[in-house]
Amino acid sequence: MRTELIAANWKMNLRRDGAVDLARAVRGVAEGNTRGRDVLLAPPAVYLGPVREAIEGSSVLLAAQDVSAHEDGAFTGEHSAEMLLDAGCRYSIIGHSERREHGGESDELIGRKVRRAFDTGLGAILCVGEKEDERLRGHETRVVERQLRAALEDVRKEEADRLLVLAYEPVWAIGTGRTATPKDAAIMHRFIRDWIGGRFGAGTADAIRVLYGGSVKPANAADLLQNPEIDGALVGGASLKADSFAAIISA
Ligand code: PGA
Repeated sequence: MRTELIAANWKMNLRRDGAVDLARAVRGVAEGNTRGRDVLLAPPAVYLGPVREAIEGSSVLLAAQDVSAHEDGAFTGEHSAEMLLDAGCRYSIIGHSERREHGGESDELIGRKVRRAFDTGLGAILCVGEKEDERLRGHETRVVERQLRAALEDVRKEEADRLLVLAYEPVWAIGTGRTATPKDAAIMHRFIRDWIGGRFGAGTADAIRVLYGGSVKPANAADLLQNPEIDGALVGGASLKADSFAAIISA
């Protein structure tokens, strides 16, 4: 059985005090969480320290929103995988559509980030998902397959088993209030799991967590999460308020 993961992607939101208050509230919710789900917070990098303090000693996991593909050196503004581990991160989100879109990140760069994370023992929440026009043309599985292939090109089975979480985030559903239907999401999750099975074997496919992301909120979380193909959620907007994130954790 896969342990579901409810992950908060705070993106570029909150200030220090708000981040600490929210982290404390999430800690309280996670401690009383009867569903046995893992809970993870991905704050802005500058608040990793205070958020880490707020969740210290609890089961709440810490993640970065991005990681550099490089080791130490002249890479102004970037954070290496070692730095993120040092800051208490277990995971980094990699390949989020906003980084693909606004940061101009290519499939190839995302593959190097995954490689770099795994070389250091940092886990990856690897985001894949098609844009609206790609879905309208019926190309969604082709796009997702290309993203998976590029990102996981030289990943070993043992690394996938230990360090990899996948997130299917259809770009047209992110921050738009539109969600994939649980049925559409489940079809893509099945496709992703089958692809992982072909690449790493049935054991990995069975054990790997495939999260859904894109306008997950209290009103649709239960429907999505009760689908056996959906192993949790990557939540943006609705993770910024303790009560809505709590409702998703317990949905
Ligand atoms: P959203 O964002 O929940 O605000 O749609 C999800 C994400 O981008 O990870």
